[in-house]
Amino acid sequence: DPILVAIDGPAGSGKSSVSRAAAEQMDFGILDTGAAYRALAWACRETAVDPDSEPAVLALLDEWIYTISLRGEQRVQVTLPGGTEAHDVSAVIRTPEISAQVSRISKHPDVRVRLNNMFREIVAASGLPGVVIEGRDITTVVAPDAPVRILMTASPEVRATRRAGELVGESHEQVLADIMARDAKDAAVVNFLTPAPGVTLIDTSDMNFGQSIQAVIDTVDE
Ligand code: C5P
Repeated sequence: DPILVAIDGPAGSGKSSVSRAAAEQMDFGILDTGAAYRALAWACRETAVDPDSEPAVLALLDEWIYTISLRGEQRVQVTLPGGTEAHDVSAVIRTPEISAQVSRISKHPDVRVRLNNMFREIVAASGLPGVVIEGRDITTVVAPDAPVRILMTASPEVRATRRAGELVGESHEQVLADIMARDAKDAAVVNFLTPAPGVTLIDTSDMNFGQSIQAVIDTVDE
């Protein structure tokens, strides 16, 4: 099985972009687990499944086909139940509309169990020497035995500034409010605000992109 580097953290901590760049430098694959939760929220919307109903979401999970590429461009594709077309959802799952809906499905315990098993299967089947896997509960639930475990954080102010730079037309205040609301919902389900025992804390508040990547690589090299 591939060597695992587990990275957790809240939105805007730099987790996604830093994980991707660090993986590339190490010639590892990268698995963004949030993409699956986002794609599932999108699939609920497309098929009029109530995201608050765990049985309905589990039934959708039985029949959808989800694929994500672990190298190069992070392409995310979903084939809906009974469908034949693989929809490329890479862009649509990043919209604020989807971001605001994801916690409605990520709160379901059995949905999490199913997705976690899917993540372990994707990694095992990757055929890669190493995979960086990032999310909220990777260091604690998905891969608690990973040889490298990192919690990446940054102050809410810094995180909102970074996200506002990515989202055209959204004010800093709106982005900060959205981030705080999402953190509050997510943190009620999994703890990603404080490091579990044995997990290395990397606070990127005062780091630039390059320094953040280096901090990850230094942790892997230790
Ligand atoms: O990391 P990202 O912001 O893309 O995650 C989107 C949402 O997916 C989070 O707000 C959270 O509700 C959910 N998520 C999760 N567990 C993970 C990854 C993401 O609950 N491991």
